[in-house]
Amino acid sequence: MTTKTYDAIVIGGGPGGYVCSIRLGQLKQKVVCIEKEEVGGVCLNWGCVPSKALIATSHTYEKVKNGAGMGLLVDGLRLDPAAMQTWKEGIVKKLTGGVRTLLKANNADLLYGDARVVGANKVQVKTREGQVETIEAKAIVIATGSSTIEIPGFKFDNKQIIGAREAVSLREIPKRLIVIGGGVIGLELGGVYQRFGSDLTVIEATPSLLPGVDPECTAVVEKNLVKHGAKIRKNAMAKGCERNKDGSISVRVEVKDEAGKTLTETHIADVVLVAVGMRPNGAGIGLEEIGVKVERGFVPTDTFGRTNVPSVYAIGDVSGVPMLAHKASKEGEVVAEVIAGHKTAKDWVGIPGAIFTEPEIAVVGLTEAQAKEKGIEARVGKFPFAALGRAMAVNETEGFFKVIADKKTHEVLGVHIVGPSATDLISEGALAVEMHAFLEDIGLTIHPHPTLGEGLMEASMHALGHAVHVVNR
Ligand code: NAI
Repeated sequence: MTTKTYDAIVIGGGPGGYVCSIRLGQLKQKVVCIEKEEVGGVCLNWGCVPSKALIATSHTYEKVKNGAGMGLLVDGLRLDPAAMQTWKEGIVKKLTGGVRTLLKANNADLLYGDARVVGANKVQVKTREGQVETIEAKAIVIATGSSTIEIPGFKFDNKQIIGAREAVSLREIPKRLIVIGGGVIGLELGGVYQRFGSDLTVIEATPSLLPGVDPECTAVVEKNLVKHGAKIRKNAMAKGCERNKDGSISVRVEVKDEAGKTLTETHIADVVLVAVGMRPNGAGIGLEEIGVKVERGFVPTDTFGRTNVPSVYAIGDVSGVPMLAHKASKEGEVVAEVIAGHKTAKDWVGIPGAIFTEPEIAVVGLTEAQAKEKGIEARVGKFPFAALGRAMAVNETEGFFKVIADKKTHEVLGVHIVGPSATDLISEGALAVEMHAFLEDIGLTIHPHPTLGEGLMEASMHALGHAVHVVNR
C-alpha cells in the first residue's frame, strides 16, 4: 500500500471531473483524476456524443429518403447498423483519447480505479491492476455523475429490456420499440429508431412529454412523432412485462383517462427502452461516513461548490439538477478556481438546455409560466421558421422562436426555440440572458441573411411590435 499527496483529488473523469482536473492543472495545482471506467464519463462514452452521432445518421437517412421534393431521387437507400456503430465508436475513441492527452498536457495525473472517500482529505483507490492506493489532498472533488434508473417489473437483460447505454449500441433496428419515459433520452433515441423504421410507442407517466419544457415547444415535437406513426400514451405508467412465445415482449400499462379512471392496456414490442431518469451517484462512496451530507444520492453544495465538509466539493450530476454535461463542466471550472484560491462562484444567470428531437428544442432562462410565477409582466415575441428563406431552402420549416422579456425594461428573460438547428441557435439566447441584454440588443444587431439566426432577431423585434417578416399583433 502506497500513500501519495496531491493538492486535489477529483473522483470521476466525466465532463465535470476531467474539466475540473484540466483547470486545476492549468492553475498549477497538483491533481489526480480517478476514473473507474473511461474518461469522458456517460457523456462521451454512451450519452450525449454517441447519441448525437446516431441522431445525425438517422436525420441524414430521413432527409435522403424524403428528398424527392428537393429533386433528390435515391434508389436502394439502406442503413448498415454495424457501419454506423463503427463510425460512432471511432468518434468516442477520438474524444476520449483527446481527453487523456489534454489531462497529460496540463500535468493532471489520471488513475484508473474505484475510489472511496475515507477521510476529509483522504481517498482510497482500488486500482484497475488490483492494488490499493491511499491518496491525500487538501481538496477532494466528487464528480461521480449519475446512473440509469431501473424500474420494478423491467429488469434489464441488456438485449430486449435496455437502458440508454445499450440503446446507443444496437446492431439491429427493432421492428417495434417501446420507450418508457417521454423525457429527453426517450424522445431522442426513440426518434432515432423511428426514423430507421421502428414502430414507436412512448409511455409517459405525466400529462406531457418532456415535463418542464415550454409546452408549445413540446407540442411541435409530439405532432412530428405522431405524424410519423408513433403512439404516445401520456398519464401512463408501465407496470410490468411478460415475454411472449414469439420472442416479443408484452408491456402492461396503466393509463389514466380524462375522467381520472384507470385503464389497463397491453403494448407489444421487440425492444423496451427504459428511460425514466438518472440517479445521482453520491451514496456508497464513503461520504456519509466522514459526515458529508448526502440527500437521495445528491451531494448538496454552496455557491462555491463546497459541501458541508469544507475540504470536499461536488460538481455535475451528483451535485444537483439539471443533469447536463455543460453545467458539470462549468461547475468543474468554478471549483478548480475556488481550490486554487481565486474569487469566483456559481453565479450564472441561465443554463441552456438542448434537446435533439425532431425538430430540436433548445431553451434558456424563464418560460412564460415561470415569469408569471415570479410576478414579472412579460412581453413575448414569436417568429416561425416557415417565414425564413433559409429554413425553406434547407426544407425544414417546422417550429418557431420565442423570446420572453420584461415588459417594462425589455430585458431578455428567456429564449425558447423549437426547429432546425435550435440547439446551435440557442447560444445567442444564452449570451443575451447571461449579459442581461435587451430586446433591442438582439433586434438591432445585423444578423446575416439568409440564415436561421435571423429568426431570433425577428422574434425580438416582434416582441417590440415591429418585426418585418411577420405580421405584428
Ligand atoms: P428525464 O427526466 O428527461 O425523463 C424521464 C421521463 O420519464 C419523465 O418524463 C418522467 O415523467 C417519465 N417517467 C418516470 N417514471 C416513469 C414510469 N414509471 N413510467 C413512465 N414514465 C415515467 O430522464 P431521461 O430521459 O432518462 O434522461 C436522464 C437525464 O439525462 C436527464 O436528466 C437529462 O438531463 C439528461 N440528458 C440530457 C440530454 C440533453 O440535454 N440533450 C440527452 C439525454 C439525457
